[in-house]
Amino acid sequence: MAPLGDNTNIAEEVMVAEAEKRPVSTIVIIIAMQTEALPLVAKFQLTEDLDSVFPKGVPWVRYHGLYKDLHINIIWPGKDGVLGVDSVGTISASLVTYASIQALQPDLIINAGTAGGFKAKGASIGDVFLACNVAFHDRRIPIPVFDQYGICAKQTFPTPNLLKEVQLKVGKLSTGDSLDMSPHDEAAIIANDATVKDMEGAAVAYVADLLSVPAIFIKAVTDIVDGDKPTAEEFLQNLVAVTAALDQSVTQIVDFISGKSISEL
Ligand code: ADE
Repeated sequence: MAPLGDNTNIAEEVMVAEAEKRPVSTIVIIIAMQTEALPLVAKFQLTEDLDSVFPKGVPWVRYHGLYKDLHINIIWPGKDGVLGVDSVGTISASLVTYASIQALQPDLIINAGTAGGFKAKGASIGDVFLACNVAFHDRRIPIPVFDQYGICAKQTFPTPNLLKEVQLKVGKLSTGDSLDMSPHDEAAIIANDATVKDMEGAAVAYVADLLSVPAIFIKAVTDIVDGDKPTAEEFLQNLVAVTAALDQSVTQIVDFISGKSISEL
C-alpha cells in the first residue's frame, strides 16, 4: 500500500493541475507605495476594504472589486505607524504576501512597483520590465549552501503568451532593503546578473513559492543606478511619471489575463 503522504501529494498535484486549467478568478497585486497603487485603484474602480481581512491594528490596506470578471485585490502595506511613510522593503512585503494568500487564496500574484535600472544592461528611465528571475543581493552568508539560501535565486512563473501580447522588457531582478547601493550590494547584483533592482520582489517570490502561488513581477525604472545622478533625487523626480507607465502596463496585463487560465499566460 502506498504511504498516505504519497496520496496526499498526488491529490495536491491534481488540484493544482485543475486550477491551472480554469480561468483565473482572483488576483492579488502587491504594491509597496501609495503613489504607485492609487492610480490603479481608480483605474479598476476598486474600493477600500473597511472590514479588513488582516489582523486588527496593522496598517495593511486592501482595495478590491470586480474588473472584467476578475476579483482584483490591490494590497498596499500602508504607512508605518510611527513615521507615516510607506512601509517599503522586504519585511512588510513578505508579511502582506503571506497574509493575502491566507485570506484570499489568489490564483496569481502580481508584484508591481518601481525599480532602479542598470543602463549597462539596457535599462532606461520609464522602461517596464517583467522579471524572469529574482534573487536577493543583501543576504550574505559566506558558508557553503547558506550562501545560496541567502541569495535565494529563483526563476519566475513563465508567461510566454503574455510576453507576445504586451510590450515589456525582460530582465533579472535583484532585491535588497536599501534604495542606495553599497559596494557589497553592487558586487552581489552583478553576480545576480540583474538588470533591475528593487526592495520587495524576491521577498514576495519567496512567500509565493512557499505557498505554491504563481507570481509575476512588473518593475518600472525610475532611476539609473549606474548613471551619474543621485539615486534618491532621480527616484523622487521620476516617481509620478514612471508610475503612469507602470500602471498602464499592469492594466494591459490584467486585460490579457481576463478569461484565461494560468496555463495560458
Ligand atoms: N525602487 C526604485 N528605485 C530603486 C532603487 N534604485 N533601488 C531599490 N529600489 C528602487
